[in-house]
Amino acid sequence: MCRVSGYIGKKEALPIVMDGLRRQSYGGYDSSGILIGAGFNLVCVKAVGKLENLEKKLENRNLKGNWAIGHIRWASHGGVTEANTHPFWDCKKNIYLVHNGIIENYQELKDKLIKEGHQFISETDTEATVHLIEKYFQGNLEEAVRKALKEIRGTYGFIVIARDDPQKIVAARLSSPLLIGINQDEYIVASDPTAIAPYARKIINLDDYEIATITPNDLFIIKEKVPEILELIPEVAEKAGFPHFMLKEIMEEPEAIENAIRGRLIPEEGSVKLGGLDSVSQKLREVKRLILVACGTAHYAARVGEYMLEEYAGLPAEVDIGSEFRYRKPVVDKETCAVFVSQSGETADTLAALREMKEKGILTLGITNVVGSSQTRETEVGVYTRSGPEIAVASTKAFLGQLATLAMFTVYLGRQREMALVMGKRIVSELSKIPELAREVLKSAPEIKKLAKKYRDFKNFFFIGRKYNYPVALEGALKLKEISYLHAEGYAGGELKHGPLALIDENFPTIAICPSDSVYEKMVSNIQEIKARNGRVLAVATEGNEEIKKLVDDVIYIPKTLEMLTPMLSVILLHLFAYYMAVLLGTDIDRPKHLAKSVTVE
Ligand code: F6R
Repeated sequence: MCRVSGYIGKKEALPIVMDGLRRQSYGGYDSSGILIGAGFNLVCVKAVGKLENLEKKLENRNLKGNWAIGHIRWASHGGVTEANTHPFWDCKKNIYLVHNGIIENYQELKDKLIKEGHQFISETDTEATVHLIEKYFQGNLEEAVRKALKEIRGTYGFIVIARDDPQKIVAARLSSPLLIGINQDEYIVASDPTAIAPYARKIINLDDYEIATITPNDLFIIKEKVPEILELIPEVAEKAGFPHFMLKEIMEEPEAIENAIRGRLIPEEGSVKLGGLDSVSQKLREVKRLILVACGTAHYAARVGEYMLEEYAGLPAEVDIGSEFRYRKPVVDKETCAVFVSQSGETADTLAALREMKEKGILTLGITNVVGSSQTRETEVGVYTRSGPEIAVASTKAFLGQLATLAMFTVYLGRQREMALVMGKRIVSELSKIPELAREVLKSAPEIKKLAKKYRDFKNFFFIGRKYNYPVALEGALKLKEISYLHAEGYAGGELKHGPLALIDENFPTIAICPSDSVYEKMVSNIQEIKARNGRVLAVATEGNEEIKKLVDDVIYIPKTLEMLTPMLSVILLHLFAYYMAVLLGTDIDRPKHLAKSVTVE
């Protein structure tokens, strides 16, 4: 992952910042850059590849100065090019910035800033930040940073300097580590303590939302108020032309997967890079058992994760819902890792379970969408799903972000264990194709709209699936009941015969998720049991399966992919089905009755 390094004081800054970069380079990187300041003279040098390439470029240049910032980059937004390498600068080459993290709303900011006349040179998310600071700069750097941060969404640990406000470094942090080493008349800033240890014994670990202003003689830290999570639905304009946020967010599902995996897949090594787990990678190697805790839709994502983790990472995994887990007496030991999955990171039941596990002293890991939320602050480590803001009460795209993240987590743990290189490569390669396949699935929207018309008068529904698609059945049923107020139940296909089959007749349709996978034949038997009782069946099957048409009333198709990844395609159809049913029934889709987006009460 990316790392930053900075120095201000009385010594030559360049060797200290370069040493800082080297000491932080263990996590891997693909390019590096530095900026050195001597009075009003600022010099920026960047190089692709190893740090030696940067060193070569610096050789014989005799760059002197006592403030500098540096960066090593692991490409996420944009390829490995010099243009995409930090530091970035503004239009006037006044402000320079290095950043570790992801700016989630960079495209929105970039479009706005370009309209205002700013010129961008890179494809990165970071560059928007430096132009935003430029917009607010009126001679005082920390003031401009403070104003810019109010508009930024995402994670950051950044260092910024300005030629026109010299001899000063401003550093800010939200959910990406940032430390300041303090020595006599000098300060060293870095993402990782290893870069500071040789130079300073006193260290300040910046907290989220803190902004530090550092001069050779002084250090001031201010904390901006932690933003609260808005329950209000923003202006209609933000629906970007869609009639509902829910439809907009379903249409963003391919992007949610793309964002989750961006910069994290290493195809040639059949592995993934999850920077948030770097600090505990050794601990994770020693983990013998996983407990996943979540609520609602996030709980269903965790249940898909349970199948993935057991089958491919070879780790025993169990899943529980937050409200139950908090009152259980779970048996855990120091080889257990508890994983908490949440879109908001503020779900009271999930947080209570997390606090209980922290009390027991076991490793806690968060898979969270909202940056800076309680779950991200309270878990020991975590991975962001990067799904972007989800406004509709019913969770849709966040589920896709959670599934993609759990798939990567599976590869991460699997490759630490028995997972072979070929298998790692296969999963990573298939995962990289999912956003495109998800876009294909969305093309079925008009067909699903028609099917919704056909099924609109039914009052009860079963959703069935097996193995990876059993939790998808639960999710499909939850979504339908939540926004259309129809009665819907999700079942494992094999469970119908143990009771629920008694309800089946021509007025009780079933949505059967039956991709061509290892349990396909079993699903066919379950569908036959329904048909034998005059039940109507709408099947979700794999493209090319013409046979199924003979058995069921209606079919919608998903493209072929690896079995463990099929939920990321099948669930899109179910989200669309729930949405179009609710449209026909005229419910308040984005704000269904009795429900709240973030359940912060028990
Ligand atoms: C369903 C839904 C809820 C949430 C649940 C957990 O559409 O939105 O079931 O999934 O309340 O919320 P988070 O993920 O914020 O912890």
